[in-house]
Amino acid sequence: MTLKTLEWKNNSVVMIDQTKLPNELVFVEYSDYNDVARAIKTLVVRGAPAIGVSGAFGMALAALQSKATTNEELIEDLEKAKKVLFETRPTAVNLAWGLERIMEVARKGNDVSEIKDSIIQTAKKMADKDVETNMKIGKYGVELFDNNDTVMTHCNAGALATVAYGTALGVIRAIKESGKHVKVLATETRPVMQGSRLTAFELKHDGIDVSLIPDTAVGYAMAKDLVKKVIVGADRILRTGHGFNKIGTYQIALLAKEHGIPFYVAAPLSTFDMKSEPDDVIIEQREASEVTTIGDKKIAPDNIDVLNPAFDMTPPELVTGIITEAGVARPPYEESIQKLFGSSL
Ligand code: MRU
Repeated sequence: MTLKTLEWKNNSVVMIDQTKLPNELVFVEYSDYNDVARAIKTLVVRGAPAIGVSGAFGMALAALQSKATTNEELIEDLEKAKKVLFETRPTAVNLAWGLERIMEVARKGNDVSEIKDSIIQTAKKMADKDVETNMKIGKYGVELFDNNDTVMTHCNAGALATVAYGTALGVIRAIKESGKHVKVLATETRPVMQGSRLTAFELKHDGIDVSLIPDTAVGYAMAKDLVKKVIVGADRILRTGHGFNKIGTYQIALLAKEHGIPFYVAAPLSTFDMKSEPDDVIIEQREASEVTTIGDKKIAPDNIDVLNPAFDMTPPELVTGIITEAGVARPPYEESIQKLFGSSL
């Protein structure tokens, strides 16, 4: 059974605690939106689509927690919750998208109880839609891969980064479901190890052929012809095709270009930010301890200065195609992305 990362159950949010993987598969349950915000911040839940839906579920909890008696009071409580949830992680645009979708629904409601109910229904629908969307991405993606391809991926853009099925790993699942054989090379993804802790765990869990490599072996693997294609997810894609994803994605894309290996990005339309310029996007800077320690073990001298950006930007000239639920965008991206937004889904 494919992993279900998060769901709405009995007026609370249930999610896999990803900080415990791969050693323990533990579920946590929250009924306070502040706990959901903390879970996003501390990577209990992570991955752009998963934090988008978590944000929406957080808003549903805020609606249930509110003691408001008028629409205005309820909107005020929701705006407060939105701010707390929004400030957790700045780079993935899906979080802002999920929160804003809920606010739009809230502003349209007639009375407090109707608003609360429609928020919960909308958040649940967003979760269901996420899985449908990923399966559509898989359907378009599968056409780009051949039988026996070895595909490199970075970080975790799988079931664990979404509600279920995954984006980049959703394409891998779809390849396997289509009857083609696929082998995955997963990078470990220092410093938080989403590749070794999550992607390797998830693919093994689902019986997909996977080998783990250190981040430093990407060039070696490509030079030795051990990689046929690369597929990654994204936290934000601009209208120009500039893609923001886990730190290290850019260097993999550069190496892929050097070795003539197709480099694909798989992401839902909710990951696109059609307004920002590359310099507007805030790259999350995370704690030094993620770099200076592994588990409880110190691996760097005391008081060392550390640079720990969580994401980097891959320019469009390195990207072969962007796989979405509306089809595959190819260069020139300004035109092809615009077309995807115009198409009926
Ligand atoms: O810091 P994380 O683990 O939230 O980073 C996740 C990624 O960079 C994923 O590749 C991205 O969110 C796409 S998930 C479908």
